Amino acid sequence: MKKIEIIIRPAKLEDVKQELSTLGIHGMNYTEIRGFGRQRGHTEVYRGLTYTVDCLPKIKIEVVVHDEALEKVLEAVVRAARTGSIGDGKIFVQDVADAMRIRTGERGNAAL
Ligand SMILES: Nc1ncnc2c1ncn2[C@@H]1O[C@H](COP(=O)(O)OP(=O)(O)OP(=O)(O)O)[C@@H](O)[C@H]1O
Ligand SMILES: [Mg+2]
Repeated sequence: MKKIEIIIRPAKLEDVKQELSTLGIHGMNYTEIRGFGRQRGHTEVYRGLTYTVDCLPKIKIEVVVHDEALEKVLEAVVRAARTGSIGDGKIFVQDVADAMRIRTGERGNAAL
C-alpha cells in the first residue's frame, strides 16, 4: 500500500475529490494548511490577488491506496489540480506497512 500526500490549491479540492471517487477510492482525508514552495519571499497569485506573504493557504489530502492504483491516482490528481502556474502544489508518496479496519479487523488491502 502507498500513502499519497497531495498538496493542492484550495480551489482544486472539489475537482480532485471527484477524480478520486471516479477511480473508486473509498476513503481519504484533507486538512487546511499553509505552506510555501520555491518562491518563498516572492509573490504568488491566489484567487486573483497577488500575495507577498511567506505562506499561502493550501489543502493537504492524504489517501492510502493499493500499490496497483498508485500511477492512475497520480495521473488523475495531476489532471485535476494542474493550472500550469506556480503554486500548483506537490505530491509525496510513502510506503505503508499495514492497515486495519477497526470494525472488522480486516488487514492490508482489504482494510482500504
Ligand atoms: N519540499 C516540500 N516539502 C513539503 N511541502 C512542500 C514542499 N514544497 C512545497 N510544499 C508544499 O506545497 C505547496 C505548494 O508548493 P509549490 O507548488 O509552490 O511548489 P514549488 O516547488 O514552488 O513549485 P512551483 O515552482 O510550481 O511553484 C507549498 O505551499 C507547501 O505547502
Ligand atoms: Mg511555488
